Amino acid sequence: MTEIRVLSDEAQFRAHLAVFRRAMHWPPPNDEQWQIAQLSYEPGRVLAAFDGDEMIGTTLSFGSSLVVPGGAVVPHSAISRVGVRADYTRRGVLTSLMRAQLEQLPDPVATLRASEGRIYGRFGYGLAGRWRTVEIDAKRAVVAGEMTGRVRMIDADTADKLLPELHAAVGLTRPGQIGRWVGWWARNRDRKTDAENSVAVVHSGPDGDDGFMVYKVSEVKDFKHKMSIEDMVWANDDAWRDLWIYASRLDLVDKIERDLALDEPVSLLFDDPRVVYTEDVNDEIWLRLVDVERMLQARTYGVADPVVIEVQDRLLPANDGRYRVSSQGVERVNAQADITITVDLLGAVYFGDTTFSQLAATKRIVGARFGEADALFAVPQKPFCGTFF
Ligand SMILES: CC(C)(COP(=O)(O)OP(=O)(O)OC[C@H]1O[C@@H](n2cnc3c(N)ncnc32)[C@H](O)[C@@H]1OP(=O)(O)O)[C@@H](O)C(=O)NCCC(=O)NCCS
Repeated sequence: MTEIRVLSDEAQFRAHLAVFRRAMHWPPPNDEQWQIAQLSYEPGRVLAAFDGDEMIGTTLSFGSSLVVPGGAVVPHSAISRVGVRADYTRRGVLTSLMRAQLEQLPDPVATLRASEGRIYGRFGYGLAGRWRTVEIDAKRAVVAGEMTGRVRMIDADTADKLLPELHAAVGLTRPGQIGRWVGWWARNRDRKTDAENSVAVVHSGPDGDDGFMVYKVSEVKDFKHKMSIEDMVWANDDAWRDLWIYASRLDLVDKIERDLALDEPVSLLFDDPRVVYTEDVNDEIWLRLVDVERMLQARTYGVADPVVIEVQDRLLPANDGRYRVSSQGVERVNAQADITITVDLLGAVYFGDTTFSQLAATKRIVGARFGEADALFAVPQKPFCGTFF
């Protein structure tokens, strides 16, 4: 019989991390790893499944914030450390954990990164945002013109202090971006040890610091190097362009790699757009609307005739109902529905990366007036988070 408990003390948190790591086929944390990881255990947000006294499954959430279409920032739970002990899988342990977690999440929305694409749809998470991995032929990547601002290299201690401040100040503009918690920065710092050779640069424009890039350069062959851009944040187009100019002009670098938004116009920077090659497109944001009414009201809408959407939510029935979506906003109604959709697929269309018409073509939603719904949910920018957790 599986029992779900909310954990509260450090010994339990460390056991929680060990169970999760074992599910991922990693060894338990050593003391050094635990020093870093413990900063991301927030009491009240850590759940475990037990069989008697044995911990057999884990999940937790980090308290964060999320940008939605239109620019509003809402409280957000970042779900992570999901694992079930290998000798207990496929007996409903994750199902019990997910149900208990959803019922007690303090925020109206949750997101996660999925290890496999078939796990989370049944719990109401929809694939809401993707990224693409590009490789740039740096030797042929020529940007016309010069920087408008200045890019300066900073040392690790300065980066520890400055980057979180800069991220909080300029990093929450694009739908999908999330606020980063103390434990995220600690773990990020830990990953970028000296051995990994990570470098941080900050951009400043007329109003001061307005962007940064973290990258590492590794030698592929004698004097031939690959640059991996690990983090990049900017407040305006000038900062974005200058950071790319800096990257494209680094000496001894042949290739640049980065995961970016589907619509980041990086190939338009260079006189030959073919220097940017898309290696891969992957899912990034799995979105769970925990409070559907609040989340539908949080975003803005395009111009089209109103549409009534009936939402079905097996795990959180308080969300079941009909919502009238118009250019002016959203309200619950008793009117007849135009479209019926499950909450995971509503998550998939929420950021505009997937459309109602696309889902209708696959017969995963039923109804009519999909074109109006597409126009209402249309967005000028693709969602992208850029913060891995
Ligand atoms: C993924 C994982 C947490 C699932 O736990 P679980 O306790 O076996 O899940 P449940 O028994 O509650 O499964 C619920 C349903 O999801 C399905 N399911 C679960 N994991 C699945 C997977 N990896 N692929 C396909 N289907 C899966 C089950 O078949 C079941 O379907 P059903 O309700 O139709 O019978 C577990 O397999 C695990 O720890 N995997 C390794 C670590 C990992 O990938 N963690 C996720 C990190 S994002």
